[in-house]
Amino acid sequence: MPGDALSQDPAELRRRIDTTKAHPARVYDVFLGGKDNYEVDRNAAAAALAANPRGYLDVRHNRDFLRRAVTTLTRDEGIRQYLDIGTGLPTQENVHQIAQRIAPDSRVVYVDNDPVVLAHARALLTSGPEGRTDYIDAALEDPGQILDAAAKTLDLERPVALALVAILHFVEDEQAYPIVRELIDALPSGSRLVLSHLTEDLNPENIRAVQRTYTERGFTFVLRSRAEVERFLTESGLEVDEPGVVPAHHWRPDGAAPVPEQPEPGYLATLDDIEKVRYRDINDVTDADINVYAVTGRKP
Ligand SMILES: C[S@@+](CC[C@H](N)C(=O)[O-])C[C@H]1O[C@@H](n2cnc3c(N)ncnc32)[C@H](O)[C@@H]1O
Repeated sequence: MPGDALSQDPAELRRRIDTTKAHPARVYDVFLGGKDNYEVDRNAAAAALAANPRGYLDVRHNRDFLRRAVTTLTRDEGIRQYLDIGTGLPTQENVHQIAQRIAPDSRVVYVDNDPVVLAHARALLTSGPEGRTDYIDAALEDPGQILDAAAKTLDLERPVALALVAILHFVEDEQAYPIVRELIDALPSGSRLVLSHLTEDLNPENIRAVQRTYTERGFTFVLRSRAEVERFLTESGLEVDEPGVVPAHHWRPDGAAPVPEQPEPGYLATLDDIEKVRYRDINDVTDADINVYAVTGRKP
C-alpha cells in the first residue's frame, strides 16, 4: 500500500534519528532555509559556509535545477512519472507539486534513507486526486528493493524520469556506476535521467575547502569531473540532452527562480550568516560561485 513506510513504529524511528551527528539531509535543509534540523547540522552548515561563504548558491542552484528539469520534462516532454532518489527533507516545492501543477495526473515516488526524511515524509504524500505519490525508506545501494517498491505506484512499462540530484557524491565509483546502470536498465525507452553532481572542475579551491568540512564529519564526499558525470549517462546507454553537462545555473535558465521576500534591514542585521542564507537572492550568482554540474539524458 502506498505510504507503507510511514507505518514504522515511532519509537523505532526515534531510535534511528541520531541528533549527535550531522546528517546530509538536515545540513542541506539548513542551506535551503528549512527548520527540520538540529544544532549539530547548523554547526556543520556553518563550517561549510565559513569555508566557502557563497556556498549556499551551490545548494540553492542545485534545487532550482531540479525545479527547471521537472518543469521542462512535464510541460514539454510528456513525462508523467518520477522516481526521486535522495529526496531530502520536504520543502515548499517538491517534485510532485511542480509536476502536478502542470499535469495533475503525475505520479511521484520518493526515496531516501534518512530517518528524519521518513519522519517528515507525510508532507510528500499530498498528491492531488488525479495523481499519486509514495515514499520508500530505502538506500540507493539497494536498487532492486527500490524498483520493486516503486512498481506499486509507477507503471514501469511507461517512461519514468529518474532523479538523482545531489546524491551520487555520497557513493564511491565501484557502487555508483553499476547502481545507475541497474536503475536505468529497468526503465523503458523514453525514460529520463535528471542528474546533478558536485565537481572540483569549476572552482576547486572553494569546493575542496567545503569537502574537508564534510569528510572531517565522516561523510563520503566524492567530487566528479565533467567526463565522470557524463559517464553515468553514456555507460547506461543514455543520450545526453542539450545543453549537455553544464554548471547548474547554466542548465536552461528560465529567470523564474523564487526570490525571497526581504525582512526589515534591522532584523537582518541580528541574524548570523547561516540564518541570513534564507533571504539570499540566488539570481546574484557568477561562474565563480558554482560547483555543481547538471544534466539530463534520455533512454533511446
Ligand atoms: C544533498 S540532499 C539532496 C536533496 C534533493 N535531491 C535535492 O537535490 O534538492 C541528499 C539526500 O540524499 C540522501 N541520501 C544520501 N545518501 C543516500 C543513500 N545512500 N540512499 C538514499 N538516500 C541517500 C540524504 O539523506 C539526503 O536527503
